[in-house]
Amino acid sequence: MCGIVGCIGVKNPVEYLIEGLKELEYRGYDSAGIAVKDENEIKVIKAVGKLKNLEDKVKKSGLKNPEFGIGHTRWATHGKPTEINAHPHRGAFSAVVHNGIIENYQEIKKELQKEGIEFISQTDTEVIVKLFEYYYEGDSFKAFEKTLKKLEGAYAILLITKYEDKIFFAKKGSPLIVAKNGNEIYFASSDAPLIGYAEKAHYLEDGEYGVADNEIHLYNDSQKISPYFKSLPTNKESAKKGGFRFYMEKEIYEQYDVLKENTLGRNTPDGIKFDELDREFFEGINNIIISACGTSYHAGLVGKYLLERDAKIRTNVEVASELRYREPLLTKDTLFVVISQSGETADTLETLKMAKKAGLKTLALCNVDNSSIVREADKTILLRAGIEKGVASTKAFATQVMTLWMLSNYLAQKNEYEAINEAIEVTKVDSALHEKIKRLSKRYLHGHGFFYIGRDIFFPLALEGALKLKEISYIHAEGYPAGEMKHGPIALADPDLYVVALLSKNILFEKTKSNIEELVARDATVLTVSSEYIEMTDDFIKINDTAHPMVEFFEMMLVTQLLAMEVAIRMGNDVDMPRNLAKSVTVE
Ligand code: F6R
Repeated sequence: MCGIVGCIGVKNPVEYLIEGLKELEYRGYDSAGIAVKDENEIKVIKAVGKLKNLEDKVKKSGLKNPEFGIGHTRWATHGKPTEINAHPHRGAFSAVVHNGIIENYQEIKKELQKEGIEFISQTDTEVIVKLFEYYYEGDSFKAFEKTLKKLEGAYAILLITKYEDKIFFAKKGSPLIVAKNGNEIYFASSDAPLIGYAEKAHYLEDGEYGVADNEIHLYNDSQKISPYFKSLPTNKESAKKGGFRFYMEKEIYEQYDVLKENTLGRNTPDGIKFDELDREFFEGINNIIISACGTSYHAGLVGKYLLERDAKIRTNVEVASELRYREPLLTKDTLFVVISQSGETADTLETLKMAKKAGLKTLALCNVDNSSIVREADKTILLRAGIEKGVASTKAFATQVMTLWMLSNYLAQKNEYEAINEAIEVTKVDSALHEKIKRLSKRYLHGHGFFYIGRDIFFPLALEGALKLKEISYIHAEGYPAGEMKHGPIALADPDLYVVALLSKNILFEKTKSNIEELVARDATVLTVSSEYIEMTDDFIKINDTAHPMVEFFEMMLVTQLLAMEVAIRMGNDVDMPRNLAKSVTVE
């Protein structure tokens, strides 16, 4: 995800900007840039790819006396990762960096275009600087305030103009931090760049904005307020992990924010909108084939339940490594959907090529813009999960399922705006829940294996829960349809067989409960996850009561992820880099 830095009143601003961006590299990016005031002009330097490219360009740029500046690493969401789309975006006399998404950028762009203002990028961010300059009548602060009033969506913004030795800043929905060390003022979108430069920082709240010269002038709703300084962490590595023990843990906790980003501008009160799709694309489509591997395949399975039930489109989900060699019947009334976090998985990519060769329309659900899969597919919906470092996929899975849910709403012309928001809410990790799972995990270390069971959409979640556990704990685990246990696997039931039962209140409650009873009667050790308390099992994790199964799904997902992680941590394993696994599987 994108990163922001900025500084003013600093001896060597370019050094902080570049070093700061390096600290944000781990978040993933595909282009970077800086803007500085130098010799009374705003100079912008940008480069696609690694920061080294930007550094080389900065060295050759002949900057004379840079006074202050802003910088950005961009993870493409609106528009390809090109130099033109990279931040900072500039106008005639100012430049801006921005994280988040301006939901009404199309409207603003059209209005400004009518006034003769030209745009060069495909981004939503460019409207901020163009709007600022449009409003500018000699008072930059007024123009900035007016600009903010017009923006809808989420943002962390830094803006500079050649007319003032100041940095204008604002936050709504995307993180922004301002730190002070004497007269030196630093900005960053997370802690890591600030460590070593300042000891205390103000973490902006939504709605706060202001201007920095050699002081921080902070406002909320046109009222001046005082910054509230907190101590910064002192350890860069732990700051990168946000104080979490593992990236996986951080990524589990990030799911709430990531899902907000994933649904921003897409889940609207008027139904689902996808900028990247048009209804014509789906004309003549009677079937869907979803092709994917591993966790992405499990997300695809959830998609099948939703697409068939809601959108009434026949959907088959295929493991890509099987599909590519089994000479499948591919008919042109089929939409071929590939799901991939990395966009580089060899088997998935090959099936995509195969479908294209057969003349099918193709759609990718992918987290990495400009990846091989995105380049190959006709259309792409980006997952906007930000870089995922933990080998065991968590937040990418959450965004895959959410995107499929939105897609099925889109195709069914169904509006589940409220339920989608409710589902996002339950992914906020509750510390009491995490603590309970941490404690429970010690009982689940030494059995002869795990079964995760569920019905309907909770069956793919059972598969995913079991995959998470085996990947990082190395304990054997299987996901099974709850109703299928009696057809064989129940023979394994004894006190050392652990069962995680995903018991939905909303889908087939009584039937799943009976399946649990069958296991309890054979002495299996059962942990039930449900909003409905059932006394018979050994352990119970209560989730929120809700009327929508997808809301249950997202909370149960969180529980299975935390459980897998806590078991693995107790086993002393490296949760982020489990043995034998790679993050991106580019071989078949
Ligand atoms: C499991 C996991 C893998 C991937 C699979 C596909 O935690 O991460 O099972 O889901 O290798 O990878 P992508 O989604 O990058 O195509």
